[in-house]
Amino acid sequence: MNEPRNLVLIGFMGAGKTTVGRALAARLGWATVDCDDLIEQRAGKTIAAIFAEEGESHFRGVEAAVAADLASYEHTVITTGGGVVERPDNLDHLRRAGRVIYLRARVETLYGRVRGSDHRPLLQVADPLGRMGELLARRAPAYEKADRVIDTDDLTVAEVVERILA
Ligand code: S3P
Repeated sequence: MNEPRNLVLIGFMGAGKTTVGRALAARLGWATVDCDDLIEQRAGKTIAAIFAEEGESHFRGVEAAVAADLASYEHTVITTGGGVVERPDNLDHLRRAGRVIYLRARVETLYGRVRGSDHRPLLQVADPLGRMGELLARRAPAYEKADRVIDTDDLTVAEVVERILA
């Protein structure tokens, strides 16, 4: 198979996109870029501040603009925010940028990884696990459109990297 121009990691909050992305890039000698970082740079504020001051739909607009520009990267592991699949056009942009890999995990696994973190506005609710279950059910069909799906529940970061490279 031809080497893809970039590798794009998608998946729910807590899927390990950033951690796996860094390890994968180190292995390949590639750069990394994180869509959430690009969003914060464009907006000049943190994601929490964007949600608090402008709301989620404004955030999704900035996220879509960032996704539309990703095709300009090369030899880069691109990591995305969990909600990038909320707008169907974004997935087309991701596909144009490179090979799209879904890091899949059960909601209980995801919850175990994100519980206690306070920088994700969507989880600042009374029942974060319930919220995650709803969001995951809604987004799963879009995530599954990735070129490859990797079940990460029982894998180490190094093992996920090897599966991606296999
Ligand atoms: C979001 C996921 C976050 C971030 C924002 C919204 C989502 O990224 O983009 O808080 O809608 O799932 P991570 O998946 O890196 O936590």
